[in-house]
Amino acid sequence: MKPDDLRRRLEFYQDIGVKTLYRQPAAPQARETEQVETGEAETAGAPAAAAEQPSINLPPLAPAGDTLPRILEDIGDCRRCRLNEGRNKIVFGVGNERAPLVFVGEGPGADEDAQGIPFVGRAGQLLTQMIEGTAKKEGIELRREDIYICNVVKCRPPENRTPEADEMEICGQFLHRQLSAIAPKAICALGGTAARALTGRKEGVTKMRGKWLEWRGIPVMVSYHPSYLLRPYNQDAKREAWEDLKKVLHFVYD
Ligand code: URA
Repeated sequence: MKPDDLRRRLEFYQDIGVKTLYRQPAAPQARETEQVETGEAETAGAPAAAAEQPSINLPPLAPAGDTLPRILEDIGDCRRCRLNEGRNKIVFGVGNERAPLVFVGEGPGADEDAQGIPFVGRAGQLLTQMIEGTAKKEGIELRREDIYICNVVKCRPPENRTPEADEMEICGQFLHRQLSAIAPKAICALGGTAARALTGRKEGVTKMRGKWLEWRGIPVMVSYHPSYLLRPYNQDAKREAWEDLKKVLHFVYD
């Protein structure tokens, strides 16, 4: 790749918030992944850094016209982080690739890992009911298939633990590409992990929920994760989640 093309591609990744790129092994004996930093501190030096590394084999991403099928193809049979060890299926995302609204969860659970589809277990059923039920009550015609749903990490963390920082960063590049390709009118972050991954903020979900934050200029509404709402003592949280959902639905569909 020519240094200018490489620089443009690195700038694109930087624009969409990707700080580290991982490449597939170039040859059987190559290391599993190799990093190319695209971080803020290197902004000014990016063209120089790119020129020094002409042999880097970046993922085949066209900055303009990136598509969900292409992102899925780039994920391939991903072995970029340890989460691949316990997974059955990669859970990429589901729904309308031109959706004006995207919901982002944390990571697949057991049901999602078995089916390869996000939010199909108990939490997923609650989410679907909440979205379709709230829309109906508010006079908005909306089905689950009209929106897009995905997660920060695409492989199930063992015992449903919270994804670790490096896992979120590695997999995050695909989330960022999904969001860039879809370019929704708004994003709803379900739970603290998704909210932190999208906004970079460090607070807990109770501080962030109900507010409009931002991912690359796109409004982000933070709300509770549906698994949290399934706990029996969380009546207040349920009411708040309903308020959050109403806000985001009216913003997108009015
Ligand atoms: N929890 C998530 O965060 N995502 C899913 O897909 C399912 C449960």
